[in-house]
Amino acid sequence: MLPRAPSTNPPIALVTAGPTEEPIDDVRFLGNRSSGRMGLAIAVALADLGWRVRLAVGPIRVATPSHRNIEVVPFRTSRDLETLLRAELPQAELVVMAAAVADYRPTTVSTGKMRRSADGLTLALEGVPDLLATTRDARRAGSRVFGFALEPADRLRTSALEKLERKDLAGIVANPLETMDAPDIDGTLFLRDGRVLSPGMRLPKPAFAEWLAQQLTLQRMQ
Ligand code: CTP
Repeated sequence: MLPRAPSTNPPIALVTAGPTEEPIDDVRFLGNRSSGRMGLAIAVALADLGWRVRLAVGPIRVATPSHRNIEVVPFRTSRDLETLLRAELPQAELVVMAAAVADYRPTTVSTGKMRRSADGLTLALEGVPDLLATTRDARRAGSRVFGFALEPADRLRTSALEKLERKDLAGIVANPLETMDAPDIDGTLFLRDGRVLSPGMRLPKPAFAEWLAQQLTLQRMQ
């Protein structure tokens, strides 16, 4: 039988999905190739298990799911996402951070449209803060926060475990770089208590999302 979150007073899960866009001027931005599909599938799988899902989505090309247990909250930039996290984290019992947050953003944003110049252009970039780590103080007491880590296969485990600690997470889903923008995922869930869980094979993202949602819901009941 599938695990179920309690049906009365449904617990809130916050799921973030998709890329951030970091503006260069009013018409250009720095982005990344995240499709958002993994986060969307996790939101649906959690909603199917009875969670009330707040789905924070960046600018994506696919439609967001319509589901009675899902409310969609859009974001565009890493700054938007930070503000959104600070507003949503205090209510969320479970957090799944599948958004692909930019690592760098332009230091200044030009107004209007920058003119083309034959001389070329050098952009000054600043680091984006680690949102999972810097918004830690806004988390609900007792909440469980999970991240994603996209890593080269040879560094998967070491890097995932390092991020688990640095970002103060209950668990992290590590997946090889090839997963980005792909229909399938070969994911492993590393938990803070040292357990390593995996569905044992590469799966289509919706099937992996169902497996993951069940693991995260089961953990809540343990
Ligand atoms: N993340 C975040 N803030 C950032 C970058 C990433 O909160 N500025 C989150 C992602 O949403 C993901 C987790 O941290 O859940 C791991 O993201 P990843 O890009 O793998 O890690 P980084 O901390 O960016 O480290 P690196 O780029 O060095 O691998």
